[in-house]
Amino acid sequence: MLKFSVIGTGYLGATHAAAMSSLGFEVIGVDIEPAKVAALSKGKVPFYEPGLEELLEQEVNSGRLKFTTDFSAIKDCDVHFICVGTPQQKDSLAADLTYVDAALDAVAPHAKAGSLVVGKSTVPVGTAQRLLNRLKATNPSADLAWNPEFLREGFAVEDTLRPNRLVVGVTNDAAENILKEVYAQLLESGIPWIRADLPTSELVKVAANSFLATKISFINAMAEVCEAAAGDVTVLAKAIGYDPRIGSRFLQAGIGFGGGCLPKDIRAFMARADELGARQALEFLREIDAINLRARQRMIELVRADLSEDLKGKRIAVLGAAFKPDSDDVRDSPALDIAAQIHAAGANVIIYDPKANANAQARFPRLGFAATAAECLKDADLVLHLTEWQEFKDLDPIAVKKMVKGAIIIDGRNHLDREKWLAAGWKFRALGRTH
Ligand code: UGA
Repeated sequence: MLKFSVIGTGYLGATHAAAMSSLGFEVIGVDIEPAKVAALSKGKVPFYEPGLEELLEQEVNSGRLKFTTDFSAIKDCDVHFICVGTPQQKDSLAADLTYVDAALDAVAPHAKAGSLVVGKSTVPVGTAQRLLNRLKATNPSADLAWNPEFLREGFAVEDTLRPNRLVVGVTNDAAENILKEVYAQLLESGIPWIRADLPTSELVKVAANSFLATKISFINAMAEVCEAAAGDVTVLAKAIGYDPRIGSRFLQAGIGFGGGCLPKDIRAFMARADELGARQALEFLREIDAINLRARQRMIELVRADLSEDLKGKRIAVLGAAFKPDSDDVRDSPALDIAAQIHAAGANVIIYDPKANANAQARFPRLGFAATAAECLKDADLVLHLTEWQEFKDLDPIAVKKMVKGAIIIDGRNHLDREKWLAAGWKFRALGRTH
């Protein structure tokens, strides 16, 4: 049975390590943060991801899954998965490859002869070949492949064990065969396998995320037009979604995409295309990014319109801070960005998120936070629905009306049942819906 190391134990690495262990492999997770390693070693996940803690605990208890900060522990492993982050650089659109480079340099001296380094992080095209050259310079008998990850936060375990495709970028058959052994159980269940060269495998990932971002910004552009033309974007989305060539998923108009992936990936893709002399091909992604950021401003304009422009001292209940439901991730969260901007304009903002309050508070300590939805809603002049948690969909508009001062709600995700809120006597507003 092959033995694996997983370098980097964030959303991607922790999930991958636990999932690989659940397939019966021995796995050692390595991270430079001792606190993370200590928590994971006890079966505790340092972030919220449904189903992961149960799986992690089970795998740690099985004895197959271990975590350490010591890179020498990987010396017996046959495959080393690199799962570290590639955030946006502070002063440019490009990806920061510091962690990927550091991971490769930390693995190279310990990787045994014939072992395979497998990159899973999202990287600018060309990175894999550069890392392969770097690996060969210090460890000529090791090889490198790229195996992009398509997991969504909130569905990380499911997406890792039942992905809709497996993509491997390799330079030879031996590397592909090792990866076929890694994923043998998944392949048996019929998951499509795509062998590619290194650059194509890197591009598949950013192309997929660019397409998803484009789909979201497309419907948000339609929302802008609906607002101008007295239309309803939710009806429009439903109608076009029935065409199987278009499909209804990722056509939810609202305050747009955020998180640690889509925004930085489309920016890094543009930066890389620029370097490659293909700037024009991705010029449209600038517009995708701009439409996405404009949705946040349109939301703030709706708030101003409903509060006669003056936000000073107004109590605004913000439902949701995470960039999407079933996650506590607030990286580039449209919800939190809007809340912070409204606060900066003088409003008294009170946020409630079922899981992301702590992360949001760490980022914006001056904003107000409530421990429950009821506490958040109490005496509010206006309610903003910014992350579509089920808990918010389940709110009873009649009961909520008794808690607030002003019965005005703006649905930033087009996810609430408008008729129910209108029937309870609320003024209900939403992006892309004028009536
Ligand atoms: C995304 C991709 O979906 C994954 O396939 C990919 O592996 C991952 O990035 C990554 O690169 O690691 P994720 O960021 O977890 O996954 O979240 P998504 O479900 O794609 O949602 C992204 C954002 O789009 C969220 O802020 C969500 O609220 C927003 N969104 C999504 C909309 O505004 N409208 C929609 O119709 C759908």
